[in-house]
Amino acid sequence: MNVIRVPDYEAMSKRAADFLTARIKELPSPVIGLATGSTPKGMYKQLIHACRMEKISFRHVTTFNLDEYIGLPASDPNSYHSFMRKTFFQHMDIPPEQIYIPDGEAVLLENECTRYESLIDKKGVDVQVLGIGQNGHIGFNEPGTPFDQTTHVTTLTDSTRQANARFFSSIESVPKQAITMGIASIMKSREILLLASGPHKAEAVARLFSGNVLEAFPASVLQDHPHVTIIVDDEAFSLVSRKEEKYD
Ligand code: GLP
Repeated sequence: MNVIRVPDYEAMSKRAADFLTARIKELPSPVIGLATGSTPKGMYKQLIHACRMEKISFRHVTTFNLDEYIGLPASDPNSYHSFMRKTFFQHMDIPPEQIYIPDGEAVLLENECTRYESLIDKKGVDVQVLGIGQNGHIGFNEPGTPFDQTTHVTTLTDSTRQANARFFSSIESVPKQAITMGIASIMKSREILLLASGPHKAEAVARLFSGNVLEAFPASVLQDHPHVTIIVDDEAFSLVSRKEEKYD
């Protein structure tokens, strides 16, 4: 894993935007996997700025989002459809037909999972952007998710619902299920860019560097991927050396 240490969130966001910009310029039809959450917001801001300054264009880019809540209409302000539209897509020049997000409102959820995975296989993701949950989840692959699972319906852990409750009016209104790309879907990406910032991610980052690949800690699977870059700020990196011994 290629580790880029940066001082803070701002620096992480800039490096991540530069990283994606380089790939988007060098590939003829880039396919980029995108993530939600607070972590990539700064990166999206940087990319929007670059697009406004005409330093980058997304006209030839296809995107795949990692996940979506089940039971929230796409128009709900807390759906990941809304998040992506407000935070990124409405400010960019990407054609809507090149944007893919799982449909959390599908009547036949299993069919939606199969459809989404087939699209991923057909297009092939060049770079998948990931955040990391405090319990090591990537996408919505919670601890214990088998590494061979592709896009599937998952039940969110209480800790993930608690962590995401800050966006909702109450914990009760946080959906209990989601559709997520599986670990196997994520591992098919040619390249992975993981971002981590802040003291609340320090434990998870330390475990990621611990050397153990365990389904109990989903992000650890990235150690088996041939092309991973991690952009991590000082606070998120702060426990790495101390914790390494503990988890060995
Ligand atoms: C959410 C998302 C993940 C995200 C993670 C971390 O539950 N499903 O894709 O990476 O949690 O979120 P944040 O960046 O807000 O810490």
